[in-house]
Amino acid sequence: MKKLNRGVAVVGTGMSQFGSFPEKTTRDLFVEAFQDMRASVDRGLDPNDIEAIYVGNYSSDLFEGQGHTAPIMADWVGLAPRPATRVEDACASGGVALRQGILAVASGLYDVVLVGGIEKMSNLPIAGVTDALATAGDVSFEIPAGFTFPGFYAAIATAYMHRYGASPNALLRVGIKNHDNGKLNPKAQFRARIADLMAGRIAKAQQKGLPVPEWQTEMDFLHDDGANPFIAWPLRLFDCSPVTDGAAAVLLVSEEIARRFSDAPLYVIGTGQASDTSALHDRPELTALRAAQLAGQQAYAMAGVTPDDIKIAEVHDCFTIAEIVATEDLGFFAPGTGHEAAEEGLTTRHGPKPINTSGGLKSKGHPVGASGAAQAVEVWKQMRGQAGERQVDRDVDLAMTHNVGGTGQTCVVHIYERR
Ligand code: COA
Repeated sequence: MKKLNRGVAVVGTGMSQFGSFPEKTTRDLFVEAFQDMRASVDRGLDPNDIEAIYVGNYSSDLFEGQGHTAPIMADWVGLAPRPATRVEDACASGGVALRQGILAVASGLYDVVLVGGIEKMSNLPIAGVTDALATAGDVSFEIPAGFTFPGFYAAIATAYMHRYGASPNALLRVGIKNHDNGKLNPKAQFRARIADLMAGRIAKAQQKGLPVPEWQTEMDFLHDDGANPFIAWPLRLFDCSPVTDGAAAVLLVSEEIARRFSDAPLYVIGTGQASDTSALHDRPELTALRAAQLAGQQAYAMAGVTPDDIKIAEVHDCFTIAEIVATEDLGFFAPGTGHEAAEEGLTTRHGPKPINTSGGLKSKGHPVGASGAAQAVEVWKQMRGQAGERQVDRDVDLAMTHNVGGTGQTCVVHIYERR
């Protein structure tokens, strides 16, 4: 069984506001995340103690016309000339940067490492964003056939619904839950329940003297093709994560010195990473992500825990179907039953297995290269009882993050313990 060479602890986390910020650059967002992280270190952080920095970034090159981003981020938070390394694994860039930081500390080379994640997507019009994201697919086979990212996950959703008889309502339930959670997250891009958005539309129609929609429930609203149009059948607008600008920062130190920084450090007790075929058509099945299953198994084996032990998880819900599949790949629910769990409310904040209490990528937002690092921010808050209104109603001594690149060509999973 693989083990880390020495213990690694998280002693600070932070994130910028997530959303669409025409007035900000990636540099501004990263500085904001760094300052937020610095404020979270119980006993204070002297930045001079940081020895290296790993930055997850999918494509500042395509989104902002700026490559070579890691040294720029290091410079903007005053860390030059420390070694700064950019990590790119599509939407898993932040999670893989975190893993690189963990391995660097575990190796004994560094005692204090900063991990960042950044993406500024809103500079491009939506067609440009779609094209930039598509380069994370297989450009030899998939993109010439007309696939986009919503299209990939639509194919996964179609296969899943066909195989397991899942209803589109299961997908919509994931969106409702994640917006419920996102409303309670001050850093989220969408801070509104779907019921609130529905009520807002009704009030607007009344105000303008227009025909008033007859929606009674959130499901009525979500089944209305005008209010919630199809993006790629069967996925609708509220099944998709949005286009987001944002950054996150995580401070890692060796276990021996963790208490010098933090009164309540989190210990990384499991980490796993795997990859898969570059194109969906080469996979034996579309209803599970093999890389996620393997990364999860590695992390569980290293940590010596089981899926039942995990109190909360932040999983990669770039589309609602992805959350359902993730809860099966990670062993929380048996294959083919994740959709029932979603419909029965088992993954809500007060259900037996809270998933994406932050609002997830769906509602908190998905600045692709930052998302994996931002997941650690939520487990940090929940495990330390600092999640405010969205704090779960149980002691969170074990938590997991699960971050996917592309359609599962990369997956990275981490398990954290509070002692
Ligand atoms: N969920 C809910 N509402 C959304 C939304 C989303 N994902 N994206 C946009 N909206 C809302 C906006 O707030 C706006 O609302 P308003 O009219 O009340 O102000 C409205 O929808 C139109 O917004 P706009 O920005 O014009 O939407 P768009 O058509 O340009 O983009 C998507 C919508 C779904 C195409 C875009 O969000 C997208 O491509 N998402 C997927 C991103 C992706 O693939 N990421 C990588 C995953 S691996």
